[in-house]
Amino acid sequence: MKKLVLENYGAASIAAADIFAELLREKPDSVFGLATGSTPLGLYAELVKRYQAGEIDFSKARSFNLDEYYPISKDHPQSYAYFMRENLFSKVNFSSSRLPGGDADDPAAECARYDAEIEAAGGIDLQLLGIGLNGHIGFNEPALSYSMSTNLVNLTESTLEANSRFFAQGDIQPSKALTMGFGAIFKAKKILLMITGANKATIAKRLFEGFVHTDVPACLLLLHPDVTVVMDKDAARLL
Ligand code: F6R
Repeated sequence: MKKLVLENYGAASIAAADIFAELLREKPDSVFGLATGSTPLGLYAELVKRYQAGEIDFSKARSFNLDEYYPISKDHPQSYAYFMRENLFSKVNFSSSRLPGGDADDPAAECARYDAEIEAAGGIDLQLLGIGLNGHIGFNEPALSYSMSTNLVNLTESTLEANSRFFAQGDIQPSKALTMGFGAIFKAKKILLMITGANKATIAKRLFEGFVHTDVPACLLLLHPDVTVVMDKDAARLL
């Protein structure tokens, strides 16, 4: 794994945007795997800024998001579809942008459809990932075994608690999600893992111990041939 440690969150977001921009220059019709959460917000703002300045263009590029709550409607303000529209898709020009359908009647069929769509697009060129406090990737939570396919998962207490900050009091927070499995993530040609903030220092340390701890899903990334980890100093302070 290649590790870039930047001074602060802003610099980490710029470094991640540079990786997006370089790939867009090399291959304008790239397929991007995207993530939600707090970590990529600075990156998305930087991509919007560069797009508005005419420096990058997504018109030939496509995107697939890692995950979506289940069940949830696309218009729910806490849905990842809404998050992506607000923070990126309404501001740049991807030729198509997909997420697993949190409103699908048949989640198993939706998962199979989503994997087939990624496959038909030729797989993912660059997969952006954040990391959960418990080491989850997408919503692949720590478990004894991991699904290769997109699948419906039960979120752990740790994840529900970490993400409860986005839900207003009285709002029902879904306890399940549809998430890409390790198949599509591992088939990505390049992986960009962003780890920022002091609260991620402990999990970052476990990742960089150099062992594939199977109870830390992110450790499986140690087996991928092309992973760049972009961090800020706060997240890297225990390394
Ligand atoms: C989101 C996702 C999650 C987040 C992780 C970190 O699409 O797949 O794995 O990347 O929960 O979330 P933040 O960035 O909010 O700390």
